[in-house]
Amino acid sequence: MTGLKWQGDKLLVLDQTLLPGTEEWVSCSGADDVAKCIVSMKVRGAPAIGAAAAFGVALEAAEAYRQVSEHTAAQMYPQLEEAIVRLGKTRPTAVNLFWALDRMSNALAECRSSEATGEQVVTTLRAVAAAIAAEDVQVNRAIGRHGLDLFRGPVSVLTHCNTGSLATVEYGTALGVIRALHEQGWINNVYVDETRPFLQGARLTAYELGLEGISHTLITDSMAGHFMKEGSVNAVLVGADRIAANGDTANKIGTYSLAVLCHHHGIPFYVAAPTSTFDLSTPSGESIPIEYRDDREVLEWLGQRSAPARTSGINPAFDVTPAELIEGIITEHGVIYLPDKQRIANFFREVGGD
Ligand code: MRU
Repeated sequence: MTGLKWQGDKLLVLDQTLLPGTEEWVSCSGADDVAKCIVSMKVRGAPAIGAAAAFGVALEAAEAYRQVSEHTAAQMYPQLEEAIVRLGKTRPTAVNLFWALDRMSNALAECRSSEATGEQVVTTLRAVAAAIAAEDVQVNRAIGRHGLDLFRGPVSVLTHCNTGSLATVEYGTALGVIRALHEQGWINNVYVDETRPFLQGARLTAYELGLEGISHTLITDSMAGHFMKEGSVNAVLVGADRIAANGDTANKIGTYSLAVLCHHHGIPFYVAAPTSTFDLSTPSGESIPIEYRDDREVLEWLGQRSAPARTSGINPAFDVTPAELIEGIITEHGVIYLPDKQRIANFFREVGGD
């Protein structure tokens, strides 16, 4: 499955805020439509918002080309540069968004320096966006394969948030590893944290696992320690929104608590993420920008106030897990065991990235 469908002149976004009850596709024909989908979390998950934003720039190029009178690329550039800025302001934490926008920006700069025609700009940006999406699927499958190296047989794992097909273009990162384990017949059970307050686990991960026929049990976030203590959880697998140069990892709020619990109970805590989630220009987790969302997500339940009228709330959407609590980061090029600044630098030197 996928939550993004590219139809050449439109991007269809599966509205994740309505799942699992309603499957409704929103049609986007420009960067502003896509930006609104990202802000409202109709599309969410680090790789998915990166790919959606890339398609947003491609759509804007087609839109700009239709509007300019002489069809020269020069007339299109200001609109496209504005679109990239607009998309970059949607959500601050997931670095995949900025990674994808940088790729679109570089493609635009190449068009400019090669004096491309308006039509060539449209074709080039469409091709780069399509490549970002296609690569994501391959990358996730590779993460799944490398994740198998960490296990020798059937296991019960716990996961947090949604890192599956809906959070990527297809297959998923941490959920991709779970899919790969399931394909081996190695999943006894997946404990799915409901993931307060937006319920990505309850609404989206449970939905995806159900579609795949993967055995799973929904728990509230606060039950994780109980099931670890009674020996029901063999490993924790989560995704990431931004990994700093020293391995500190920002992911959905509640991830840090899971890592601390794993440390206490001697359970391996793994992060699964593509190399596009690493931000080597950010030295440590302290400088990762954390998105704060509307307090109402905490104070309300299904649109109804659940806290007293005068009670205030606070809603950080992500937290940072220190690298020393992470047993391994599973990437498309292999696993970085016990990640730290040196091991991450060596890894990128070997794979030739960033
Ligand atoms: O706020 P969200 O739903 O966009 O947060 C998503 C997560 O935190 C995921 O774990 C992360 O993006 C990895 S997705 C493969």
